[in-house]
Amino acid sequence: MRSFEYYTPTKVIFGKDTHLRIGEILKDYNCHKILIHYGGKSAVKSGLIDDIKKCLTDAGFDFVTLGGVVPNPRLSKVREGISLCRKENIDFILAVGGGSVIDSAKAIGYGVANPWTDVWNFFLKTEVPTACIPIGAIPTIAASGSEMSGSCVITNEDGWLKRGSTRSDLCRPKFTLMNPRLTYTLPEYQTESGCVDILMHTMERYFVNVETMEITDSISESLMQTVIYNARILLNEPGNYNARAEIMWAGSLSHNGLTGCGTGGGDWACHQLEHELGGMFDVTHGAGLSAIWGSWARYVYDANPERFAQFATNIFDIPCFADYESTALAGIEAMEDFFRSIHMPTNLRELGLDLTDEQIHELAFKCSFEDTRTIGVFKQLNMKDMEKIYMMAR
Ligand code: NZQ
Ligand code: ZN
Repeated sequence: MRSFEYYTPTKVIFGKDTHLRIGEILKDYNCHKILIHYGGKSAVKSGLIDDIKKCLTDAGFDFVTLGGVVPNPRLSKVREGISLCRKENIDFILAVGGGSVIDSAKAIGYGVANPWTDVWNFFLKTEVPTACIPIGAIPTIAASGSEMSGSCVITNEDGWLKRGSTRSDLCRPKFTLMNPRLTYTLPEYQTESGCVDILMHTMERYFVNVETMEITDSISESLMQTVIYNARILLNEPGNYNARAEIMWAGSLSHNGLTGCGTGGGDWACHQLEHELGGMFDVTHGAGLSAIWGSWARYVYDANPERFAQFATNIFDIPCFADYESTALAGIEAMEDFFRSIHMPTNLRELGLDLTDEQIHELAFKCSFEDTRTIGVFKQLNMKDMEKIYMMAR
C-alpha cells in the first residue's frame, strides 16, 4: 500500500431542487459578478438557465452568460470566455451543464487568473497555473466527475489535440449542487456513456500493479457494482430517481480521489488512448472508453492476472478457477458483455470509426507525444504498444 494525501474540498449539496438554492449558496463566496457558462441547447430548452438567472436576480447578483460549449470542449470557446470575463470583471464562474461545460469553466478560470501566460501552456504542461477564478458547478449529466475533480480537459482545434491540465486543487469547484432530476432529459447514449466513464474512473485506479488497500478495493468494487446495477435500470427507466441519484453520486466518488487512496494514483492508459480519439474524431468520451477498454485489458492483463481475477470474482461473481489467467479473461469478457448490454461499443467499428493504418499510427504518435512518453502503470506502454491496442480495437 502506498502512502497518500486525500483532500476533497468541494461542498456537495445533493437532492431534488438543490440547484434552486444557488442564490443563497453564492452569498458565501463574496463574489460581485458571475459568468453563467453552459452548453449547446439542453439547459436552455429545459428552462434550467432561466431558473438559474431568476435565482441570481432574486439574490441580487449581477451576471453575464456564455453558452455554446460543445462536447470535447474547444480552446476557442475558452479564449472567448477569458476575454468576456476580463471585459466584465467576472469574479466567479458558474458552470451549468456536463463535464465539457465544467472543464471549459475551469480553463477560463485559469486563463483569467494567470494573465502572464497563454492558457494552452497549462495543457501542454509547460507552465503551471498559480491561481484560478472560483468555480461552482450545477451538473446536468453524471459522468466526468469534473464537479469534484481538480482537472480539466480541453481540445485545441489547431492540430485537434485533446489534453488534460495538471491536477490541481486550484480549479476544483468550490461547490456542486447536484439534482439527479436534471439528468432525466439525457438521451440513452449519453446516460450510458456517462456510466462507462464513471466505471472507468474507478477501474483506472483499481488496475494498478502495487499492493492496494482492502478498504479502497472494497469501496471501488462496491462503486462498480452500483454503477453496473443502476446503468441497467436506467436503460428502461430513465426517470427512476433513485437510480439517477446512485449514478450521480457514484460519478463524484469515482473521480474525487477516494478510489485512488493507497493505489498510487492509477493507470490512466485507457483515458490517454481515448483522449486522442476524442481530439481527432470528436467521439463521446465514455463510448470511446468502452470501445478501447477490452483491447487494453487483453493486452495488459498478463502483467498481473491475479488482479484481473479479483475483479472478475468480486464484480461478476466468476468463480476463481485454479489459474488466474482464465478467470481474468472471463472477467474481461463479462465487462464487455455488460457494455454491449447497455448499448455501448466494444470496438472502434461499433463506435462508428473505420480507421486506416495511417490513422492508427497518427493516434499512437499523438498519444505518445510524438514517441517521447509512455503511458500506464499496470503495464507501461510505448508508442508501438499503443498502436497495437488501437489495432486490436479496430
Ligand atoms: O450541450 P448540451 O445541449 O447540454 O448537450 C450535452 C452534450 O451533447 C448533453 N447533455 C448534458 N446534460 C444534458 C444533456 N442533454 C440532455 N439533458 C441533459 N441534462 O450531453 C452531451 C455530452 O455532454 P458533456 O458535457 O460533453 O458530457 P460529459 O459530462 O460526459 O463530459 C465529457 C467531457 O469531460 C471530459 C471528457 O474528456 C469530455 O471532454 N472529462 C473530464 C474530466 C475531469 N475534468 O475531471 C475527467 C473525465 O475523465 C473526462 O476526461
Ligand atoms: Zn473519463
